[in-house]
Amino acid sequence: MSAVYALRREVFVIEQGVPEELEVDEDDKIAAHLAAFSDGRVIGTLRILRNERTAKIGRMAVSAPSRKEGIGRELMEFAAAAASRDGAEEIVLAAQFTAREFYRKFGYIEEGAAFDDAGILHVMMRKEF
Ligand SMILES: CC(C)(COP(=O)(O)OP(=O)(O)OC[C@H]1O[C@@H](n2cnc3c(N)ncnc32)[C@H](O)[C@@H]1OP(=O)(O)O)[C@@H](O)C(=O)NCCC(=O)NCCS
Repeated sequence: MSAVYALRREVFVIEQGVPEELEVDEDDKIAAHLAAFSDGRVIGTLRILRNERTAKIGRMAVSAPSRKEGIGRELMEFAAAAASRDGAEEIVLAAQFTAREFYRKFGYIEEGAAFDDAGILHVMMRKEF
């Protein structure tokens, strides 16, 4: 988990300017965390939170030098398969505006108005199984 938090810090706090005190939260204690490894290093991560019929994906991050190599796709596909296997009927996520196209590729559809979270414009997206 320390390597997962280090990657999230690198991507969200250092690269994107998210306030450090918001990056790790109470949900981290109860989430399932996925990590993608290369040569023993964590190069990608996301977390899954379950609430009744809904799974929520968050903290999706791939290290900058490893982007556009399919790591994000593998994590998203693994997470959807795991959530479906666990009986979830849908997945929701708060997408950064700039990442909407990434999530659309996996069947997520935007809903509702855009909102600010930690200084970054987001929109909710949903995928039903
Ligand atoms: C968004 C992010 C997770 C994508 O990870 P990645 O490993 O580069 O994604 P992949 O290589 O698996 O890409 C899968 C597909 O999405 C596309 N894609 C990747 N990032 C994209 C983006 N920002 N916008 C649009 N399309 C994108 C890829 O071109 C690829 O398309 P293809 O399958 O048609 O070739 C990564 O860029 C990242 O960590 N960004 C910084 C953190 C962030 O913004 N997280 C999202 C928080 S909501």
